[in-house]
Amino acid sequence: MSVSRSLAGIITAWLAVVGCIHGVILEVKEANSTCIKANLSALFSISYNTTNSTNTVQVSLPNSTTVDERRSSCGDNGGSPSLVMVFGPGHALGLSFSTNGSLYSVANLTLQYNLSDTSVFPNASGSGVVTVVSDSVGIQAAMNSTYRCMSHTTIALDNATATFYNMRLEAYMPGNDLSPKESVCTADSTSPTASPTTTTAAPAPTPPRQPEQGNYSLTNNGSVCLLALMGLQLNITYLPQSQDKAVQELLNLDPNVTHSSGSCGANRTTLVLTQESTIMLSFYFTLNSTAKMYHLSGITLQANLINMTAPFFASNMSLGYLRSTLGHSYMCKAEQTLAVDPTFSINTFDLKVQPFGVTEGQFAAAEECLMDQDQMLIPIIVGAILAGLVLITLIAYLIGKKRSHAGYQSI
Ligand SMILES: *[C@@H]1O[C@H](CO)[C@@H](O)[C@H](O)[C@H]1NC(C)=O
Ligand SMILES: *[C@@H]1O[C@H](CO)[C@@H](O)[C@H](O)[C@H]1NC(C)=O
Ligand SMILES: *[C@@H]1O[C@H](CO)[C@@H](O)[C@H](O)[C@H]1NC(C)=O
Ligand SMILES: *[C@@H]1O[C@H](CO)[C@@H](O)[C@H](O)[C@H]1NC(C)=O
Ligand SMILES: *[C@@H]1O[C@H](CO)[C@@H](O)[C@H](O)[C@H]1NC(C)=O
Ligand SMILES: *[C@@H]1O[C@H](CO)[C@@H](O)[C@H](O)[C@H]1NC(C)=O
Ligand SMILES: *[C@@H]1O[C@H](CO)[C@@H](O)[C@H](O)[C@H]1NC(C)=O
Ligand SMILES: *[C@@H]1O[C@H](CO)[C@@H](O)[C@H](O)[C@H]1NC(C)=O
Ligand SMILES: *[C@@H]1O[C@H](CO)[C@@H](O)[C@H](O)[C@H]1NC(C)=O
Ligand SMILES: *[C@@H]1O[C@H](CO)[C@@H](O)[C@H](O)[C@H]1NC(C)=O
Ligand SMILES: *[C@@H]1O[C@H](CO)[C@@H](O)[C@H](O)[C@H]1NC(C)=O
Ligand SMILES: *[C@@H]1O[C@H](CO)[C@@H](O)[C@H](O)[C@H]1NC(C)=O
Repeated sequence: MSVSRSLAGIITAWLAVVGCIHGVILEVKEANSTCIKANLSALFSISYNTTNSTNTVQVSLPNSTTVDERRSSCGDNGGSPSLVMVFGPGHALGLSFSTNGSLYSVANLTLQYNLSDTSVFPNASGSGVVTVVSDSVGIQAAMNSTYRCMSHTTIALDNATATFYNMRLEAYMPGNDLSPKESVCTADSTSPTASPTTTTAAPAPTPPRQPEQGNYSLTNNGSVCLLALMGLQLNITYLPQSQDKAVQELLNLDPNVTHSSGSCGANRTTLVLTQESTIMLSFYFTLNSTAKMYHLSGITLQANLINMTAPFFASNMSLGYLRSTLGHSYMCKAEQTLAVDPTFSINTFDLKVQPFGVTEGQFAAAEECLMDQDQMLIPIIVGAILAGLVLITLIAYLIGKKRSHAGYQSI
């Protein structure tokens, strides 16, 4: 046990070192004084159209990322301070800051990606630079302190997500170095595994039991826009470090340590579930507003389990699950399997979701899956058969009684 412990320690330490090497350090200066400094790792998941389907790619912020000095600023001439990072041919990530005197926050995040870069976006049907913006980023810290978040934080954008980890950043800096005082993000302070030296997963247990039902929701402009109750079991097939044969792992999401984020749009709602820093599962719901129908159209998974040779990634953006009518929720108490690709599927238990048209934070009347309807049919059929038997017995008894009565009379 001590050997495996120390081995796990070495692997964790090694991964932490690699993580540090992979993080990039960027700063914005004006007149020799630094106003924004960031040390972070980021991973983007971007969906784009090809001629005949939709692809999703993973892009990580490379070490060669630099600051675009022309577009970055300390905000000394009236604008807001911003850090614009550029990488590859025409890709960029921008963070704009604002403050109210006691707190500073990321007012918005801008991601630009160049579909003409065929090495990243093979067979893209579009071309040129696409810009997507999110203004609900949730990065906030006290003035004169460094924002610290080692855990994965995911921000949903149109057709993309941005995930940050191993992040330390500060804006409106009083000196040229990150302030020693830290504002730690909630994910770090609630997750015991997310300390600076243990950014990678503890070995995941394989519980065969039914997963606990999680209760997830999203808000938009202060009101609830997505409700989801569900137990989720991930079925992942991957190549472990120690063997050259693929193994299959069943992993239950633990709602107690799963964080939900995402965004609600008019026709697209994205729910991102992050379990500690090891699992990031995204659900993309699409509304067809002419047909007034919605469905689960895409699922992506990023997982980084300790015994995986490389981070696991699976995605399918052309799914047709959980179909329901706008104004209703979708319910399936029975176990349902959502196949994503040959290496990944999800078993859902006790599921109830409503990704569109939520009013007053309540589920609307549910449309139930066929399996539940079938299960409801069983007691009805059994009941009908029993009622039939009782009726037949009764009729037989009455006929028998009448006959014997008649027989008695004829004597
Ligand atoms: C910035 O620092 C350099 C070297 O310390 C100095 O020569 C230069 O005058 C400074 N510039 C400003 C605008 O303070
Ligand atoms: C792909 O094409 C469809 C139909 O033209 C469009 O609705 C969708 O937004 C496109 N997706 C992306 C990622 O550009
Ligand atoms: C899309 O088209 C390409 C080339 O035309 C083809 O190789 C690929 O199999 C097609 N994919 C699907 C999902 O139809
Ligand atoms: C987008 O990528 C293409 C191909 O690499 C390149 O020619 C073009 O200059 C890039 N666009 C921008 C704005 O950098
Ligand atoms: C800044 O915003 C925070 C949170 O919204 C609030 O608690 C604080 O009082 C505000 N400070 C000032 C100086 O307005
Ligand atoms: C931040 O530090 C600067 C310089 O040390 C100081 O002038 C300022 O009042 C501090 N601000 C806050 C909100 O503590
Ligand atoms: C981002 O926020 C800054 C500061 O509030 C603002 O000046 C800028 O216009 C915003 N950009 C976008 C694209 O919303
Ligand atoms: C957000 O809420 C405010 C106040 O309730 C409202 O004025 C505004 O139009 C809303 N914005 C959106 C995009 O719904
Ligand atoms: C997990 O996936 C594999 C491969 O698709 C399948 O054979 C197996 O039955 C699945 N297990 C469960 C419990 O869903
Ligand atoms: C989650 O928390 C609840 C209440 O605190 C507890 O009853 C339950 O056992 C926990 N579940 C797991 C998987 O730890
Ligand atoms: C929406 O539904 C209508 C009617 O069922 C269908 O004709 C149309 O193609 C659908 N739109 C999309 C974007 O799937
Ligand atoms: C994605 O899902 C669709 C519908 O379930 C399926 O036909 C397709 O094969 C899946 N794609 C991959 C890459 O597995």
